[in-house]
Amino acid sequence: MLDPALDRLIRDLPKVELHLHIEGTLEPEMVFQLAARHGVALPYPSVEALRAAYDFTDLQSFLDIYYAGCDVLRDEDDFHAMTMAYFRRAHADRVVHAEIFFDPQTHTARGVAMATVIGGIRRAMADAERELGVTSRLILCFLRHLSEADAEATLDAALPFKDQLAGVGLDSGERGNPPGKFARVFARARAAGLRPVAHAGEEGPAAYIHEALDVLRVVRIDHGVRCDEDDALVERLAVDRVPLTVCPLSNVKLRVYPRMEDHNLARLLARGVCVTVNSDDPAYFGGYMVDNYRAVCAALPIGRPQLVQLAHNAVEASWLPAARKAELDAQILAVAAA
Ligand code: HPA
Ligand code: ZN
Repeated sequence: MLDPALDRLIRDLPKVELHLHIEGTLEPEMVFQLAARHGVALPYPSVEALRAAYDFTDLQSFLDIYYAGCDVLRDEDDFHAMTMAYFRRAHADRVVHAEIFFDPQTHTARGVAMATVIGGIRRAMADAERELGVTSRLILCFLRHLSEADAEATLDAALPFKDQLAGVGLDSGERGNPPGKFARVFARARAAGLRPVAHAGEEGPAAYIHEALDVLRVVRIDHGVRCDEDDALVERLAVDRVPLTVCPLSNVKLRVYPRMEDHNLARLLARGVCVTVNSDDPAYFGGYMVDNYRAVCAALPIGRPQLVQLAHNAVEASWLPAARKAELDAQILAVAAA
């Protein structure tokens, strides 16, 4: 049982979420709702049967189901409904700012236009800011199992909307798809003013983290937990304060770690690495932000000072303006002192 005072602190802390795939927030109930709206036949008889299929053995076993689920996203209202449902749920966890990923290739390959995808998500972002006070940024992710030419075409299709995008990322199956495969498209995205991030060191080796930093020039590493296989790399991340957007429940669900007790989050935090807690694909991995904070707190040597540090780290790692960061840091300190 979690100490009730820590539980309250977890609930009350203003949180910033930096690693969230919007398609990974599609709950089974909404999959069925959208399927009914569009007359799509699903290979599962019920919401419960679909949820029961979320029993993953590794990253690829998850990705297969995750991409299949996206098939119900057909029009702008679908993207709006999915994104708005995420913001409402995140707001309930006291998420005040989110920098969210989307995977356009999953949709454009099915004939859904880039404008439809971005339009629906951006409309929800505006509604969430107005109705809930939750601010956000949008990050376009390239699917690394596809070619760089495919990523180049995706960037071309997205550039007319670049004012609505804050950055580019790299996701999907990591093994055998090193960051260097996307050197040119990332260079072009950076030149267009988009901030680069990349998933690295989730299932892939520590060398992929070096490569993401040196070749793609990323400003944050998504996951990055396998950095601890290379002590010099951990030192580099700590000294340079390169943020890692860690996703604890995801890591256990996809068997990066057998148990939460084995997770290195607390050790990396103690080494001075700018680690943050995030939910990745919460509809699939059994929890949103509060659930992730609670899970690490229950399993690892993480108490009040570490929770407060994690909250500050996420503010530091965000792309918010300095004044807003100072405001959130002050709110965190006020909650910590209460
Ligand atoms: N890793 C790689 N690709 C992904 C993930 C992830 O955790 N979630 C959605 N796409
Ligand atoms: Zn991810």
